Amino acid sequence: MTNPHRKILVTSALPYANGPIHIGHLVEYIQTDIWARFQRMCGHCCYYVCADDAHGTPIMLRARQEGINPETLIERIGREHRADFAEFAIAFDNYHTTHSPENQWLANTIYAALRDNGHISRRTIRQAYDPVKEMFLPDRFIRGECPKCAAPDQYGDSCEQCGATYSPTDLKNPVSAISGATPVEKESEHYFFKLADFEPMLHAWTRAGHLQPEVTNKLDEWFRAGLQEWDISRDAPYFGFEIPDAPGKYFYVWLDAPMGYLASFKNLCDKTGMDFDAWCRPGSDAEMYHFIGKDIIYFHALFWPAELHGSGFRTPSAVFAHGFLTVNGQKMSKSRGTFITARTYLNHLNPEYLRYYFAAKLGAGVDDIDLNMDDFLLRVNSDLVGKVVNIASRCAGFIHKRFAGRLGSELHNPALWADFTEAGERIAAAYDAREYSRAMREIMTLADRANQYIDDKKPWLIAKQDGGDAKLQAICTMGLNCFRLLMIYLKPVLPVMAEKVETFLNIGPLQWEDRGSPLTGHIINPFTPLLTRVEQEHIEAMMEDSKEDLGSTAATVHTVTNAHLARDPIAGEISIEDFARVDLRVARIIKASHVDGADKLLQLTLDMGGETRNVFAGIKSAYPPEELEGKLTVMVANLAPRKMRFGTSEGMVLAAGPGGKELFILSPDAGAEPGMKVK
Ligand code: 2FM
Ligand code: ZN
Repeated sequence: MTNPHRKILVTSALPYANGPIHIGHLVEYIQTDIWARFQRMCGHCCYYVCADDAHGTPIMLRARQEGINPETLIERIGREHRADFAEFAIAFDNYHTTHSPENQWLANTIYAALRDNGHISRRTIRQAYDPVKEMFLPDRFIRGECPKCAAPDQYGDSCEQCGATYSPTDLKNPVSAISGATPVEKESEHYFFKLADFEPMLHAWTRAGHLQPEVTNKLDEWFRAGLQEWDISRDAPYFGFEIPDAPGKYFYVWLDAPMGYLASFKNLCDKTGMDFDAWCRPGSDAEMYHFIGKDIIYFHALFWPAELHGSGFRTPSAVFAHGFLTVNGQKMSKSRGTFITARTYLNHLNPEYLRYYFAAKLGAGVDDIDLNMDDFLLRVNSDLVGKVVNIASRCAGFIHKRFAGRLGSELHNPALWADFTEAGERIAAAYDAREYSRAMREIMTLADRANQYIDDKKPWLIAKQDGGDAKLQAICTMGLNCFRLLMIYLKPVLPVMAEKVETFLNIGPLQWEDRGSPLTGHIINPFTPLLTRVEQEHIEAMMEDSKEDLGSTAATVHTVTNAHLARDPIAGEISIEDFARVDLRVARIIKASHVDGADKLLQLTLDMGGETRNVFAGIKSAYPPEELEGKLTVMVANLAPRKMRFGTSEGMVLAAGPGGKELFILSPDAGAEPGMKVK
C-alpha cells in the first residue's frame, strides 16, 4: 500500500435496539467488516466502531408493551446483537449504545454549538395527538383510509396499496395505532436545525469526492427542491435525551443516532488512552468512513456533515452507500421464509458461506443485491469447497505422509508464482475500492489456475513412480503455496477459515505483505477439513424455521402478539376492531401425528363441530401426539391457509408458555363444544 500509516475510523449504520439483526442488515456489516479487515491486514491503523440505536418512540412503546423499562429492553437487545455479530465474525473494535454518557455529551455539545452559532430556530407547530395515551403521534403511528385510493388501514405518511405520499391530516377516518382513538390536533413548540444555512458548504462537500457519483446526482434533486429546516425535537413522553435548555423536550432519535458513531469511538478512546480530538476535530490526519444503506443518505450526506461542520467537528472522508437485499429475487418475506434473522441463519448454516456470497455479489455502487438460495449453494460449494479447499486437500496428504510434513525448498513454477503475487495488487485495489465481486472473480480465476496446475502435474501418478519424490514434493509445495496466497486474499472475507489455515500451515496470522515470500522448507500440520459443503436440506430447514419464527404455525399466546409486532414493529398495540377480526373457536384434536422431516411440528386434525381442519403446530417438544388426541383446545379459525413443505395449514392452535417443553395448549372448561366461538 502506498501509505503504511493511514489512520482510519470506519462505521456501519447503527441497528435499532428493538428487533433482531437479519440478513438484510448483514450485507452492510459484512461489507464494512471485510473492508476494515483488509485495511488492518495491510498494516493500517483501522478502527471499526458501531453501537445500538437505542432511542425513539418504537423502542419506548415496545418496552411498555413488554412491561419493562426501555433501559432493560435495550440492554437485552444489545446483548443479542453483540452475540449475532460475534458469530458472523464482525470484528468491531468497539460496540456501544446511543443511550450512553458519551453520546449525551456529544448531543449536548453539538446542539449547544449549533444553537450558539444561530443554526437552531423554534416555532410552534400543530401535530396529531393521541388523547387517550396523551402523546403526540409520529406519522407512522396514525392509520386510516388512503386519501387517494381509499385503501383501509394505511400509514399516516404513505399508502402501501397505491404508493401515494401525503400528510397524516389528509388520511380519512384516522386512528391512533397505539390506542385506536381518533387523534386530535394539538400545538407544541419545536426546535429546528436550519439546514439551509449550510447550503454553500454542502453544495461543495457533496461534489468533492466524498460520495459515490450516483449519490451526488440524487442529492442534486434535493438541492433543487431546497433544503428544509429539520425538526430535531420531540415532546415527552419520549425515550431519548432531554434537550438541556428545553425541559420536557427531547432530541429526535435521528439527531443523536449518527453522533453514536463518535460516541462509540470516544468510549474506545477513553478505554485505551487514544486522543479523541486528534481523530475527530477539523484538520485531523485520520480518515473517517460511514457505510450505510441507500435509504439513509439524506441523514448522512446532508444533516450529518452540516451538523459536524457547524459545531467544530471534522466531516466524514466519505459516505459509502449500498443497495438493498432481495432474497430469491423478491423483497424479504415472512410468509415465504426469506425474512431470515441472523440467529436463525446461524442455527443452520456456517456464517462464512454468507460472508463469501455477499462478497461475491457486492460492488461499490448502490445496486440492490440478490441472495438466490440455489445460486448460494452452487457458488459456495463450487468456489470455496470445489476450488479453494480442494487445492490444499490434493497436496497436503503427500507432504504429510511422504515428507513428514516438510515443504520443499523452492517453488516448482516461478512464473505461476509471479502471476499469483502480482494479482495481489489488483485484488488489493478491488478491496480498497469496495469492488469485492471483482476481487472474488480474480481470486477464483487464480484458484482455477492452481487446480489446472495440479491436474497437469498429476502428483497422484508421480507418487507411484520410483524416484519421483523430489518432484512430488516440489509440486505439492507449489500447490500449497498457491493455496496460501489464495487464503491471504480471502482472509478479509473468511477470517475463521483463514485461522484454521494458519494452524494447518503452522504459521502466524497472515498479512497482506506475506504474499511476497513463499513458504518453503517449513513443516506443516496434518490437513484437517477447513469447510464443509452447504447442504440443500439445511437451507430448507432454515427457511422453514424462518416461517416458524413468526409463530404462524405454533401460536403461543405470546407469539400471537409478537407476530403482529414483527410485521409492524411500530404498532405495539392492536385495536378492539383488530381483535374482533380474529375468529377463535373451540376445537377437538381428533388426530395428532409426527411430521416426517420437521423437528418441531405435529400434524393435527381438528374437529370444529362439523368441519375438520388440518393444522401444523410447533408443539412437538411439549407433547407426544397420543397425549393430545381427544383434547379440546382453542384455535384461530380464520387464518389464511398457508402452504408448507408438508401440506397446507388451515389455522393455528393457541398455546401459552416460553416454548420448548414448557408449552401448554389452551383448553376450555368442560362443557365447551367444538365449533363454539371464543369471546
Ligand atoms: O435506519 C436505521 O436502522 C437507523 N437505526 C440507522 C442509524 S445510522 C446512524 F445514523 F446512526
Ligand atoms: Zn392509496
